[in-house]
Amino acid sequence: MQKTSELIWQDTQHRVLFELIDQLRAQEIDASVFEKLTDYAEHHFALEEAYMRQLEYPGMDEHIAAHNKFRRELNTMLEQHHTYDEALRHSLSMFLREWLKRHVLGIDKQLERFILESKQK
Ligand SMILES: [Fe+2]
Ligand SMILES: [Fe+2]
Repeated sequence: MQKTSELIWQDTQHRVLFELIDQLRAQEIDASVFEKLTDYAEHHFALEEAYMRQLEYPGMDEHIAAHNKFRRELNTMLEQHHTYDEALRHSLSMFLREWLKRHVLGIDKQLERFILESKQK
């Protein structure tokens, strides 16, 4: 049984997003930001989705649809911008902040509670 009130792997992975937002604010971006983001989207989403399937999470369809929307929008941004310039930095920054507010602090928190509760059964 997990004793802490937060889900460690989820929290650790979410921190990557906070770091990326800081990086975008602090310096010029290059391909490594996209690599980290793509990696985040692939691995982090896959892990959340695996838990949802395994636990038959009631909000699964809605949650996976939101992940897919993120994947699509990230791909579109990659296709539309051919240079790592200020405009891209701005778009990415807005995109991630919005995601943080709506998803990470919203439905991800609901999922966290559900996983923690099912572990205690
Ligand atoms: Fe999520
Ligand atoms: Fe998440």
